[in-house]
Amino acid sequence: MQSFEFLMPTHIIFGECTEQRCGELVKAYGGSRVLVVYGGDSAKKSGLIDRVTQSLQDSGLAYELLGGVHPNPTLSFAQKGVEQSVKFKADFLLAVGGGSVIDCAKAIADGSPTPDYPLWDYWSRQRPLTQALPVGVVLTIPAAGSESSDSAVLTNDTTMVKRGLNSPLHRPRFAILNPALTYTLPPFQIACGIVDMMMHTMDRYFNPICTNQLTDEIAEGLLRTVITNGKIAIENRAEPHAMSELMWAGSVSHNGLTGLGNQTDFAPHQLSHELSAKYDVAHGAALSSIWSSWARFTMDTNPERFAQFGTKVWGIDGTGKTAVQIATEAIDTTEAFFSSLHMPVSIPQLPCGKLPDDILEELATRCTYYGTRTIGSFRVLGHNEILAIYTMANKT
Ligand code: NZQ
Ligand code: ZN
Repeated sequence: MQSFEFLMPTHIIFGECTEQRCGELVKAYGGSRVLVVYGGDSAKKSGLIDRVTQSLQDSGLAYELLGGVHPNPTLSFAQKGVEQSVKFKADFLLAVGGGSVIDCAKAIADGSPTPDYPLWDYWSRQRPLTQALPVGVVLTIPAAGSESSDSAVLTNDTTMVKRGLNSPLHRPRFAILNPALTYTLPPFQIACGIVDMMMHTMDRYFNPICTNQLTDEIAEGLLRTVITNGKIAIENRAEPHAMSELMWAGSVSHNGLTGLGNQTDFAPHQLSHELSAKYDVAHGAALSSIWSSWARFTMDTNPERFAQFGTKVWGIDGTGKTAVQIATEAIDTTEAFFSSLHMPVSIPQLPCGKLPDDILEELATRCTYYGTRTIGSFRVLGHNEILAIYTMANKT
């Protein structure tokens, strides 16, 4: 087991009507002037923003609203948010939405104490992040896990580079998880969330260290929970128990717990970010379009690991089968599950369609940060391997 430290300080408040406590919680965590960040119109239409602002008023807090965050949030929008935050003298960011809204709020929180520095400096590692305003979350979609992760993912809309920035400063002070807030989600977004939660766990599970029993059992249990309840939630999004399981699983899948003592891999995430950056593809769809190609390409690195995944997660009966046979069945089963959720399992199934070879080459070059890095740890991937995976995924 690798040495590790684990501090997940986010206060989780789970249950019905918990959004009505957001004023009290902001106050408890030291906020007095709150910038409320939200996305398109879903949180407005459902009346959630009204309930949130009522709660802030009831707690005697000053607030301003900043709506309009798009999925795959952009640097330019976050910069506008920093301007508003500084002008309003905000001392607390309240994100009401999903991963995109939360990450945008985190970026605004990062930029607000240092508005004279270019915000992207933190994402490009030109400048270390040493201070940020506190962030609280009212979650509306189980998916990215940003409500308790240390990460914030932003797209630089000038260079079309999508990058994550990990920092302990990115852990929200609190996250309100009321499953009823998800009942308005379209099935496509539920499916995107299911894929993303699974991938946060699988990108930690497929790594060079495969001997950590407790960590493996947590990961396998989480995956089985998401698969079982994901199917139910897709059939009936207002099924309260299934959505409750998904909402909690989404947070646990990316707060670090499912990979303790492992090395992380996250190659499928890195491969998918290039597709989202160039074509604004939904994060979960970009992941499902690439995963089975990544898995088939890397399987021979450790077929026994894929076989364990097949038997423990998918319940494949391995009697009389070789590790490679079980591993192959596990990858096919995962791919079929994504298809059953109507998620793309190849690049041509994405809105961008089949890509020409020169674009695949460009994606591979960008993914290595122009030849300055490799990705992954389960199998380390350089430019040629990345290109091979994109090429496999580009077949119809
Ligand atoms: O903008 P609105 O109108 O709210 O609509 C959103 C959006 O169109 C909609 N939605 C959310 N809650 C809803 C709802 N519609 C109806 N009812 C509700 N209750 O869903 C759409 C997608 O929202 P988004 O926030 O983009 O989804 P998600 O949570 O999947 O976040 C994706 C973003 O998070 C990043 C991704 O790269 C992507 O940018 N990630 C962040 C991570 C992190 N910070 O730890 C880790 C992840 O790996 C991921 O990279
Ligand atoms: Zn993800």
